[in-house]
Amino acid sequence: MIVRPDAEGIRRAVEILAADSVVAFPTETVYGLGAHAFSEKAVGEIYRLKNRPSWNPLIVHVANVAAARELAETWPAGADELAARFWPGPLTLVVRRARRLPGIGAANDTVAVRVPAHEVALRLLEASGLPLAAPSANRTESISPTTAEHVMRSLPDVPLVLDGGPSSWGIESTVLDLTSAVPTLLRPGALGLRELREVTGSLALPDAVADGAARPSPGMSRRHYAPRATVILCKDVTDVDPASLAGPVGVLTYEGTSGTEILSADPREYAADLYAALHRLDDAGVATILVQEPPQTEEWLAVRDRLSRAAAE
Ligand code: TXA
Ligand code: MG
Repeated sequence: MIVRPDAEGIRRAVEILAADSVVAFPTETVYGLGAHAFSEKAVGEIYRLKNRPSWNPLIVHVANVAAARELAETWPAGADELAARFWPGPLTLVVRRARRLPGIGAANDTVAVRVPAHEVALRLLEASGLPLAAPSANRTESISPTTAEHVMRSLPDVPLVLDGGPSSWGIESTVLDLTSAVPTLLRPGALGLRELREVTGSLALPDAVADGAARPSPGMSRRHYAPRATVILCKDVTDVDPASLAGPVGVLTYEGTSGTEILSADPREYAADLYAALHRLDDAGVATILVQEPPQTEEWLAVRDRLSRAAAE
C-alpha cells in the first residue's frame, strides 16, 4: 500500500520495521526496500521479496556519520573527508565491519553504508532509530524504481511504500571501497568521478567497471536494470531498420534525433529520467527497445554501465 509520508505514515512504517518486516521508502537515488539491518528475519524478508541471490550484500542506510562509524571496525581518515563533503548524498562507502556486530546479508568482513539525502528517508531513520539495510525496491535484475508506483508494480507484496515523489537523481549511489590501499570504484553511480577525485586524489577504476564487463562489486552481475523488452544498444539508431527487429519497437535517444523517448543530452538529466523512460516503454508494451549509445566519456559512465547491463543477455 502506498501512503503519504506524514507523521502517521512514518509511525506505521516504524511499527512495521520494529516488527521485523520491510517497508519501501524514497531516497534521492532510487526507492529502497528497507529493513532493520541487524534482524536476520527482516533481512531475510528483503532477499525473499526481491528474489535476490544470497551472495549479494546490502547497503546499510544511517542517519548520520556517527551512526556510520558505529558499524565500522576502522573508520579510515578518507571516509571522514568523503562523508563531510558528500553526505547526506549518493555515495556508498565500503569499510571494515565492526566485529562485535552481526553480519548483514551476504557481507562478511565489510559493510557498505550511506546517509541518504532525502527528507523522508532521514525522518524514517530517525524515528525508527534503526540502521536500515535497503537495496533498490525492485525484483532482482529488473529496473530500479524511481517512484512509489514503480515499487508497487515490481513488488506488490510490500506491506507499505512511503511516497516521496520521484527520486531526484534517478540512478543508484556510487559505491566506493575504502578497504583497499587506493579507494576503488565498485559501482559507478549518481556521484561523478570528477567530484570524488577532488577528495580522494587517486581512484582505482577496475577495467571491469570501466567497461561495464565483469562484476567487481558482488551485485554487479552482467544482466541487471533490465526492462521486460529486449534492449539493443547501437552507435546510431538511424542505421537500424526497425522492421528487422521484433516489434513493436521503442526508440530511446537523447536530444535532436527522433525517438519514442527522447531524453536530455545532459548526463545528469538523462540519468534522472532513464529508469522512468524504461518503465514507460515497458508499459507501452514494446518488444524491443533500441537505444542510442551515449558518448564514451567519463560523465556518462554510470548511464552506460546501466544501459549495457540492461542490454546483456
Ligand atoms: O542508491 C542506492 O545505493 C540504492 C538506494 C536504495 O540507497 N540502493 C541500492 O542497493 O542500489 P542495491 O542493493 O540495489 O545495490 C547495492 C550494491 C550492490 O552492487 C552490492 O553488491 C554492493 O552495493 N554492496 C553492498 N554491500 C557491499 C559490500 N560489503 N562490499 C561490496 N559491495 C557491496
Ligand atoms: Mg538494485
